[in-house]
Amino acid sequence: MSRSVKIGMAGLGTVGSGLAKILLEKGGILAERAGVPLELKRVCVRNPDAPRQIQLPPGILTTDLEGLVSDPDIDIFVELIGGLEPARSCIIKAIEGGKHVVTANKAVLATCGWEIFRLADQKGCCVAFEASVAGGIPVIEVFREGLPANRISRMIGILNGTSNYILSEMSSRGEELDTVLKKAQEKGYAEADPTYDIDGTDAAHKLAVLASLAFQAPVEMDAVSKEGIEAVERFDLEMAAELGFVVKLLAVASKRDEGLDLRVHPAMIPAGHLLARVSGVYNAIYVTGDAVGEILLHGLGAGQMPTGSAVAADVVALARRIASGCRCSASMFLGFGLDGNGTVEICPREALESRFYIRFNAQDRPGVLAAISGILGSNGISIESVVQRGRAVGGGRASVPIVMLTHAAPVIAVEKAVEEIEALEVVAGKSVMIRVEELE
Ligand code: NDP
Ligand code: HSE
Repeated sequence: MSRSVKIGMAGLGTVGSGLAKILLEKGGILAERAGVPLELKRVCVRNPDAPRQIQLPPGILTTDLEGLVSDPDIDIFVELIGGLEPARSCIIKAIEGGKHVVTANKAVLATCGWEIFRLADQKGCCVAFEASVAGGIPVIEVFREGLPANRISRMIGILNGTSNYILSEMSSRGEELDTVLKKAQEKGYAEADPTYDIDGTDAAHKLAVLASLAFQAPVEMDAVSKEGIEAVERFDLEMAAELGFVVKLLAVASKRDEGLDLRVHPAMIPAGHLLARVSGVYNAIYVTGDAVGEILLHGLGAGQMPTGSAVAADVVALARRIASGCRCSASMFLGFGLDGNGTVEICPREALESRFYIRFNAQDRPGVLAAISGILGSNGISIESVVQRGRAVGGGRASVPIVMLTHAAPVIAVEKAVEEIEALEVVAGKSVMIRVEELE
């Protein structure tokens, strides 16, 4: 075998430890698959004295990020720090120095990925990012290598393991969001800033990355509309079950005549649908292509070893290219060239329609239901069913939940009607709005 391919890795947290374990424990298999030995040459962390889940060979741990990125001996720079900076600058510096890059950082890719890919193209470097979406599921490779013959019309993903774990545990064990989030953090599923898991940002980052591959054009984060799971309560999950639904944080990309509809939000989906069975930290991506029909990819969406597996796949693929002397460019791991791919047309919000589950907290008094349904009616929204739970204890001023399912209606009309209803004196606080996603 030829000389080794040398790896410099920034970050030895959940994912970095997973990759280090794989490189150190499975070096023989990886070398056979790559056609060249892989050497973990340097690993950079912030705190060299922190306890680690893995024992590295002596002398490779450093806190000198600049030194690692500019080390001329390193062939592949693996960025597993997370966040925007210094991750973005390190990746750029590594490419400027002619290194290939592997990253799991969907935040960087969704906000400044195109700057990075263009630079990589100019410099003849590869940027690989399998671990950035859906943890251990090789979904990036599936889009790049498995579906080039397809026009993708829709993909629906459960792309955030932490929020799926939270919704699953809230439904099955009746736990509160904050309690389950703590468990997700302990297990290493959550982002360094866990609000990104809860408010839909992480899933939106991933949707931007996947949509770029699926529709072969740069899609950036601000093209994705997002809502998180923070308002969803156990009551809503119980009501969903009674109505024959399961609540999931969905990431949806669908091609419509008016443009690409890109959105992340909690949604009620039929309890019998395959996606409804994706629970815990599992992720899934349901894709519709004109040749392949419908496919479902399913697997662990976060955690040390599944994500380490995805990063290792990129490292091996890159090492194989380096060893065989193949030309490198950003397009190699994107699956399409950067020239001539303009921006995608985004579907205007005015064109979007949905059925909705809406929970109002309203006083238990005669006429309240009529006032609410009157406002919905005057906004052109028709009601499919109404459920009022319990009687207010202590008189008419205490509030009770009133749940309404609407027929399909324009999203902006429903939002306007809910705002008007919330202004009624008999309605208390914010309502909960959850879309009902139409899935066959
Ligand atoms: P962690 O927070 O567990 O680890 C981050 C690591 O980066 C730590 O080792 C930390 O050092 C190091 N680090 C942070 N800042 C610096 C810096 N300025 N210089 C040097 N080292 C630094 O993150 P994860 O492993 O969970 O995530 C890494 C990336 O992978 C993120 O982009 C994340 O979004 C992505 N990802 C995570 C998944 C998961 O399941 N956790 C799944 C898929 C993708 P120290 O240990 O000393 O603090
Ligand atoms: N925080 C992310 C999640 C990690 O929970 O899905 C995987 O990208």
